[in-house]
Amino acid sequence: MQRAQRKLEHINIALKTGQQRKSGLEDVSFVHQSLPEISLDNVDLTTEIGGLTLSSPIFINAMTGGGGVETEKLNRELAIAARETGMAMAVGSQMGAIKDPSQIASYKVARQENPNGILIGNLGGEATVEQVKRASDMIEANAFQIHVNVIQELTMPEGDRNFAGILSRIEEINKSLAVPLIVKEVGFGMSKEAVEQLRSVGVSIIDVGGYGGTNFARIENERRSQILDYFNDWGIPTAGSIIEAVNVSSELSIIGSGGIQNPLEMAKSLALGAKGIGVAGHFLKLHKERGLDELIKEVNYIHEDLKFIMTALGAINLPQLRKTKMVIAGDTFHWLTQRGIDCSVYAR
Ligand code: FNR
Repeated sequence: MQRAQRKLEHINIALKTGQQRKSGLEDVSFVHQSLPEISLDNVDLTTEIGGLTLSSPIFINAMTGGGGVETEKLNRELAIAARETGMAMAVGSQMGAIKDPSQIASYKVARQENPNGILIGNLGGEATVEQVKRASDMIEANAFQIHVNVIQELTMPEGDRNFAGILSRIEEINKSLAVPLIVKEVGFGMSKEAVEQLRSVGVSIIDVGGYGGTNFARIENERRSQILDYFNDWGIPTAGSIIEAVNVSSELSIIGSGGIQNPLEMAKSLALGAKGIGVAGHFLKLHKERGLDELIKEVNYIHEDLKFIMTALGAINLPQLRKTKMVIAGDTFHWLTQRGIDCSVYAR
């Protein structure tokens, strides 16, 4: 019951605390090109992540399930939005259904509404191989996310306090899982060291889940009396985190997420090397304030706008977008320079 209640609180407090809007992507500028030499009609948004071909690089990132009928309704509508726009979708942590079978329907509904779509399961780093298999089967997942969320757990009054052994569990899960494994953060970003640790145990798809959007330290602080305010601004902003992760190895598939809302931020993230873009809080807010039909319309606009931006840059597809020139300024420049990454390679 406590878990189901928490799921509803997360939605309500996420809507209330909103997005930080400081993902570092504001420090990234495209270099305008006057002669792009391509036609809008030929621009293609297809991406490939871990052997899955996706017609859109944008997906609905993990949010909910496990909070009874309210979360069932939300997952139903998010699944319809995904189906109607060709986006993949991750469900929220399925531990609720692993511990309480009465919650299974709140996740399964996503598969029922979108039988042929790309659906991604989700559990935390504490999950066992057996739990991941059950969760994956529950929704006939095409891929599976394991979230790592140390700062959220520490700030959560009832959260975990022991983070030993997560890496070896992830290694075991990765070995036994029949679908691609994605390891994700939840809004605190991934450092190149963390990405290297994950790579060393065989993980090849990483969602950086950067700072700058939904802030789970603020959300959990709203749920406790003794505030851990030092975690409120903790984390690696999304732009810097994408660049750190991409620079670890060209063999990794990096997903950009954390505070990404508009097509320009998506185009910048993809140009920096992300193969996909996860959006959670922004889609939740759009759905809450404007409803399902408007959410679908908005995603269609985003797809169109992304093509406009790619046309302006002369990029017919995502590999070409990755070759466009960008200048990185401000805090992101300073962060990356001190982290030993040469920003000028993006500009030349
Ligand atoms: C989340 N997020 C999340 N992530 C996860 O791996 N499992 C989960 O169960 C949840 N639950 C959840 C609930 C709600 C209400 C929100 C808004 C988010 C985190 C989410 O997937 C994402 O990593 C972060 O929210 C950062 O992205 P945005 O929101 O800034 O686009």
